[in-house]
Amino acid sequence: MNKKIIALLLLVAVCAAQTMENGPIVRVPIIKRARTEIQKKNLLLRLKGIYDNIINKIFGIRANSYSEVKVQNYADLQYFGQVQIGTPAQTFTVVLDTGSSDLWVPGTPCNSLPCLVHNKFNPKKSSTYVDTGKSFSIQYGTGAVKGTVANETVSLGGLTAKNVQFANAHQLSMDFQTTKFDGILGLAYNQLSNIGGLTVFDQLVAQGLVAQDVFSFYFSDKENSDDSELVLGGIDFAYNSTAFKYYPVILQAWYVIAADSIQIGGVNLKLNTAIVDSGTSVIVGNAVVLNPIIKLFPSKIDCSQINTYPNLTITISGDNYVLGPQDYIVQINLQGQSQCLLGFQALELPAQLGNSIILGDTFFRKYYTVYDRVNSRVGFAVANHSNNKSQ
Ligand SMILES: *[C@@H]1O[C@H](CO)[C@@H](O)[C@H](O)[C@H]1NC(C)=O
Ligand SMILES: *[C@@H]1O[C@H](CO)[C@@H](O)[C@H](O)[C@H]1NC(C)=O
Ligand SMILES: *[C@@H]1O[C@H](CO)[C@@H](O)[C@H](O)[C@H]1NC(C)=O
Ligand SMILES: *[C@@H]1O[C@H](CO)[C@@H](O)[C@H](O)[C@H]1NC(C)=O
Repeated sequence: MNKKIIALLLLVAVCAAQTMENGPIVRVPIIKRARTEIQKKNLLLRLKGIYDNIINKIFGIRANSYSEVKVQNYADLQYFGQVQIGTPAQTFTVVLDTGSSDLWVPGTPCNSLPCLVHNKFNPKKSSTYVDTGKSFSIQYGTGAVKGTVANETVSLGGLTAKNVQFANAHQLSMDFQTTKFDGILGLAYNQLSNIGGLTVFDQLVAQGLVAQDVFSFYFSDKENSDDSELVLGGIDFAYNSTAFKYYPVILQAWYVIAADSIQIGGVNLKLNTAIVDSGTSVIVGNAVVLNPIIKLFPSKIDCSQINTYPNLTITISGDNYVLGPQDYIVQINLQGQSQCLLGFQALELPAQLGNSIILGDTFFRKYYTVYDRVNSRVGFAVANHSNNKSQ
């Protein structure tokens, strides 16, 4: 049996349902990549591609206004899941991304380098593939991802929805040459969808396959672990060590909530909004918000001094969310050497959001995050990392 098939069987085995307050939940195992490479592209392509596109969609303006504040190196700390497409299923590694709303994977015919290094969907090998005749295009840093929109059978966490629209991408920009994921599975509101229509999760809900229109992300703090999970249909209360606090989604596109302030080491800046985005690795914010914070740190951080840096506090509706320096400084190994990088990136977000930050994976590791779409709210609780499955 080849590796891919074994992985698929393991995935199915892991997805046993568990009883929750409102019915069964389903688990999508998430793979966390080791911190072994410096990789700035994943973050940048998201910022320059997806956001550009979204800003245009929501606000009707073309956003060419990025101040691409001095690009540092970013650790490629992303969390991936697997999705199966077609009949029989073809498996892909995807970013489970609450910052976008389309599902796309590379597909045949695509023979450019970024396609050759990834799994490709082959429509000819699927009996359920239906070409809708629509085309798909999304702009990224070094070019576009283009493809055709198809209706297919798609499985996530062992739940199988029919007639899911996805893009079979036959052209990939060079940004994707080095990504460890094949494609992206968007979990934001369908207002952001380029394809249009229902997202994968919307389809799971519409087809009665999940208990509730709720999902949650638990991110492990362990390196090289597959303990992280996207929980479909509810919350796994083994993963929270405090009660959840909820905040209304004030703009249903990304998941945008109101936020009060960000404080660190004597700097205290007013915020208006925060975007809760599983697909962003670090904490991103307007330059006006993040530059005064970035200035508190030396350009090269000595890993042995991490604990001397102050806590970062993000206040949301009067509640304080604290990240310690171990949380916001990212330690990576590059060719056997430890390097410490600041997990902040300044970038111009849409002016309509006011002073805004994106709460990315850095935040999710500390706070188990619930997307409660029934009540249009996002909830956070301190994650309990002692319940990792592998322990
Ligand atoms: C594709 O599926 C959508 C629902 O997701 C449906 O409205 C549409 O008619 C289908 N198109 C084709 C060509 O089957
Ligand atoms: C975390 O989970 C462990 C194992 O279930 C439990 O013993 C512990 O009390 C939990 N910690 C908190 C702070 O809830
Ligand atoms: C987990 O969250 C639920 C819902 O907010 C709460 O009732 C429960 O007490 C929390 N668990 C812990 C250990 O605090
Ligand atoms: C930082 O936060 C942690 C956890 O909330 C707390 O235990 C610690 O005392 C804080 N450190 C400082 C310097 O405030």
